[in-house]
Parts: sequence; C-alpha cells; structure tokens
Amino acid sequence: MSIETAPEIVIPQLSADATAEEILQAAVAAAAGPVQIACSFSVEDLIIIDKIAALKLPVGIFALDTGRLNEETYEVAEGIAARYNIPITWYFPKHESVEALLREKGPYSFRESLDNRHECCRIRKVEPLGRALAGLKGWVTGLRKEQSVTRTDLPAIEIDKAHGNILKINPLLNWTEDDVWAYAKANRLPVNRLHAQGYPSIGCAPCTRAVAPGEHPRAGRWWWENPEHKECGLHR
Ligand code: ADX
Ligand code: SF4
Repeated sequence: MSIETAPEIVIPQLSADATAEEILQAAVAAAAGPVQIACSFSVEDLIIIDKIAALKLPVGIFALDTGRLNEETYEVAEGIAARYNIPITWYFPKHESVEALLREKGPYSFRESLDNRHECCRIRKVEPLGRALAGLKGWVTGLRKEQSVTRTDLPAIEIDKAHGNILKINPLLNWTEDDVWAYAKANRLPVNRLHAQGYPSIGCAPCTRAVAPGEHPRAGRWWWENPEHKECGLHR
C-alpha cells in the first residue's frame, strides 16, 4: 500500500535585487495552490494589492479584525473595495476568548505586562491568523527589513514552519520608507487618513499612537515596550 504525501513546496531562486513583481510571480507559481495577502490596510499592503491587481495574480485578501481597530482603518477597506474588484475575507477572534479576557482582566490588560500583551495579541491576532492560513499554500505580507530590529534578516520568500510549511512571501522586503511613499503618492493609493496625523505605522487603536518628527516609524506601536519586543506573534 502506498502512502501519499503532500508534495513539498520549493522556494524559487531569485536574485537579491528581484522586484516585488518578480517575487510575487515566482512565489505564486511555486506555491501551486491558494495564496492570499494578509492585509492590515498598511500602505505596504496597499502597494502589494495594487501590484496583484495589475499583474492579475490569483491572490485573495484576508484581514484580521482584532475588535480594536481604528475607524480610519475600515475606511481604507472601503477604499480598496471601491478601487479593486477583490473581496476581503475578514476573520474575528473567538468571542469566548475575548469575553473571558475582558471579564478576568479588563479592556486594557495589555498595558500591564508583556505577558498580558502577548495574551491579547494571541487571542485577537495569532489564533485568527491560524484559521486564515488553514488551507493556503502561501501568504503574502507587507513586512520590510527597515521596519524593525526584529525584521533585518527577512528573506523574500521563506517556508513558514509555524503554519504548516507554506510559503511566506515578503515582496517589499527591501523597500525603504521613501520608496513606499513615492509609490503610494504616484499611484494615488487610498491610504489611511491617520498617516497624515503622524501615524507612520498603524495597528490596534489602543496600542498605536502618533510619533514626533524624527522618531522611528514604529516608535508609536506599543510605545511602552522595548524595540526588540515589538512583535505581536503574527511574524515569528
Ligand atoms: S505587527 O505584527 O507589528 O502588527 P505590522 O503592523 O508591522 O505587524 O504589519 C506587518 C504585516 O503583517 C502587514 O503588512 C500584514 O501583512 C500583516 N498584518 C498585520 N496586522 C494584520 C491584520 N490585522 N490583518 C491582516 N494582516 C496583518
Ligand atoms: Fe491587543 Fe494591542 Fe495586540 Fe491589538 S495590538 S491584539 S489591542 S495587545
């Protein structure tokens, strides 16, 4: 009796200066199955969606609604719907987990300790991400090396061992902040209104604040924590 095993996905070979388009096209071909972009409605995610639409790639969009997003973020979702004909698949946290968290620890437990912050991110982001990725052969992110000390070694395409050995695709890994904003302006992308109010990087409302001129773009994310802790568990 023969035992069938799933064919392994092989990371395509790309030059170090491969463009976002080349990375996306090679990765989608290598995945040989469903691929979606994880969309937080960041300017990076909008650029990738713009490229996916232009290349007519079969890449869907999913978003994790943590329950604590800014109003302005939903407006970006509306902007995407108006501009591209791609539906957004929303995922929510399990209501039992959120109810238990708030009953036991209140609505701002994440400010009290790193463990509590990780617990909230686990319930509101990481668990729903697992459900979003089930059945996919690859996922695309807007991660860039320049964003954080935790992202400097980012590859263009990697095998995501934490999520069943599917492809994790980071087409903008080498883009700078200037590259991103030049593209967004030139292509009139429907960016989040909060960017113009001093928010370069936007996550959940209570864990994001505006930054002062000259401050690091992610300084307003979990501003009470050290830079090496500023990950929520989506990207391990
Ligand atoms: S985080 O881990 O610090 O929150 P960040 O805001 O930098 O992540 O976003 C990096 C990438 O993670 C985004 O470009 C997007 O691909 C993915 N991502 C982050 N938050 C979400 C979300 N709520 N829903 C879907 N994807 C997300
Ligand atoms: Fe909770 Fe803040 Fe993490 Fe959002 S970013 S899931 S509110 S701890």
